Amino acid sequence: WLLPAFVLLIGYLLGSIPFGLLLTRLTGAGDLRKIGSGNIGATNVLRTGRKGLAAATLLLDLLKGAAAVLVGAALVDGGGPMAGAMAFIGHCYPVWLRFAGGKGVATMMGVVTALYWPAGIVFAAVWLGALFGTRWSSVGGMSAAVSAPVAMWCFGRIELVPVALALALIVLWRHRENIARLARGTEPKVGASKKAAA
Ligand code: G3P
Repeated sequence: WLLPAFVLLIGYLLGSIPFGLLLTRLTGAGDLRKIGSGNIGATNVLRTGRKGLAAATLLLDLLKGAAAVLVGAALVDGGGPMAGAMAFIGHCYPVWLRFAGGKGVATMMGVVTALYWPAGIVFAAVWLGALFGTRWSSVGGMSAAVSAPVAMWCFGRIELVPVALALALIVLWRHRENIARLARGTEPKVGASKKAAA
């Protein structure tokens, strides 16, 4: 049981690295928690006006999810999904930030892609399609998250449906404030005013 527990811990620790917060702090781009939505993800980094930093946040949050899956699979037979899920939990609920972490979309994409890359392609396509179609980052992210269990199902990877479904439901839960803003018509579009999300 020691090795599986170690895999869970490694996954969680990898996922709990708040790259958006670290990058913006280290480069003096400001305190993400006081900007826009207050979220630590790439969308909110974009609201600092630093596109390169936002891209780096997206990439690193994605890579930590993928890395967790690969490490988990290498250490324990069938350890990929559990390590990936723990990385996702680590991102959304990091102990370092008193469990107030991100919304999970980039990390979920990394996990999904490393688990079964065709589902990652679907994830990316739905994300980009919904994002550019609506200009709402939250709608893009939520649509992509929901597409993952559907894609796993359609590709016949039934054993991966439960983990993809669980992650998608948590992504929706983490976006509850975005959903409320969408319902009120106050959710800012990407590229709109930097202050509008508060
Ligand atoms: O992945 C987060 C994104 O979907 C929404 O971010 O900052 O607009 O709440 P934000």
